[in-house]
Amino acid sequence: MTLSIVILAAGKGTRMNSQLPKVLQPLAGKPILQYVLDTSHSLQPNNISIVAGFKSEMLRDLIRDKNISWRIQENQLGTGHALMQAIPDLKSDKTLILYGDVPLIKKVDLQSLIKKSDTGLAVMTHIKNDAKGYGRILREEEKIQGIIEEKDCREEQKKIKEINTGILAANTKYLKNWLKRLTNENAQKEYYLTDIVKFAVDDNIKVSSHEVDEEISISGVNSKKELAYIERGLQLKKAEDLMNTGVTIIDPSRIDIRGQLKCGQDVTIDVGCIFEGNVNLGNNVHIKAYSFLKDTDIDENTVIEAYSHIDSSKVGLFCRVGPFARLRPGTVIDDEVHIGNYVEIKNSLIDKGTKINHLSYIGDSEIGKNVNIGAGTITCNYDGVDKHKTVIEDDVFVGSNTQIVAPLKIGKGATIGAGSTITKDVPKNDLTLSRPQQKTISGWVKPEKK
Ligand code: UD1
Ligand code: CA
Repeated sequence: MTLSIVILAAGKGTRMNSQLPKVLQPLAGKPILQYVLDTSHSLQPNNISIVAGFKSEMLRDLIRDKNISWRIQENQLGTGHALMQAIPDLKSDKTLILYGDVPLIKKVDLQSLIKKSDTGLAVMTHIKNDAKGYGRILREEEKIQGIIEEKDCREEQKKIKEINTGILAANTKYLKNWLKRLTNENAQKEYYLTDIVKFAVDDNIKVSSHEVDEEISISGVNSKKELAYIERGLQLKKAEDLMNTGVTIIDPSRIDIRGQLKCGQDVTIDVGCIFEGNVNLGNNVHIKAYSFLKDTDIDENTVIEAYSHIDSSKVGLFCRVGPFARLRPGTVIDDEVHIGNYVEIKNSLIDKGTKINHLSYIGDSEIGKNVNIGAGTITCNYDGVDKHKTVIEDDVFVGSNTQIVAPLKIGKGATIGAGSTITKDVPKNDLTLSRPQQKTISGWVKPEKK
């Protein structure tokens, strides 16, 4: 069996009230349409096409996928009219129609729908207590007779709770024939794709259905409110998957995963944390409240204290980072390191056992083992034009409020006196300081107001 997939995505999404087309709105950090595409690819079809309309150029720019074809529907004259634009792409035994704004549709449900379309046509349905706005499934003695849009419904038909999700699979040869017969003689003067059900019945083709229970997987995203609802549902699922593997999530309604979060055993994540890109947490890692981690690996037994911001970094075993720490891209921290509050580190290597506990900026540096960086130490890595490197060897003690004007190297075991401005290489073991002598002016009289 060969399969073609067509994703309908020409609608404007007026209710989003946004310059960004609705199918490009981010859901857990990824455009809505990308979810539909990823699921489509997972079915390994022969070809995929997207019918675009509103801001189609923007769609093509943002969804970079060489293995799909784009069809343009200039005027949105209905779902049937949308599919007509993709007729040249209907070249497999079967065709699956998806909506670009139904992101969480499940592969298993699609597989089952495709199987059921062996009869010629299968529609995906759902039972909804409040069916308002949806097309209703018309049955006679269980057999599907048609789909009627809300606007065309008689009062008693509006009571039908079985709705059309819009997703369907059909024998391609039949589908092409049915498309030729569509008209726009209805309340909305649109070419309804749903009218093919009626044609199938006329042609004595059995219309099958696959009913999906889980509402969120068939939900469309039409407004910011629906977007937030689906976002939270998706996040809850991600949290549940993690909890099933043993992760402690203090409040599953207060976590956001915008990418892939992999966790070892006995990881604890406190409230309000955000994870972006690929984040890996080793066994016994504890992420405290309101931390942000992006494309980062944290090794076993490390604690990230509250309000820390970590981007494209690596942190070793048994470290303590934060609260209020910022690790910027290119930071690599070895084991047993302590990074305290208001410490910013960028593009630097920090070796084992080193402590940078308070109010410091470390940029473009290589810091050895068991180094102590005193409060308020700044590496002056930028001269206004170029960035320069600082090397601090093992066992160095840097006194508080020191400025290290790169490029330079501080030798192993050296001590830097507090308040120094270091501009030249520092020899090993000795004490180096640059500090005006302290003096006292005796008999000093405070100025008085005249
Ligand atoms: C459609 C179904 C309805 C179903 C509902 C589920 C028809 C006639 N009706 O309703 O039975 O209950 O979906 O949400 O099919 N689109 C285009 N071009 C168009 C019109 C729509 O590409 O001219 C795309 C939209 O971008 C969207 C999808 O088709 O992805 C559905 O469009 P929408 O207007 O939301 O659905 P309805 O027509 O209201
Ligand atoms: Ca419509």
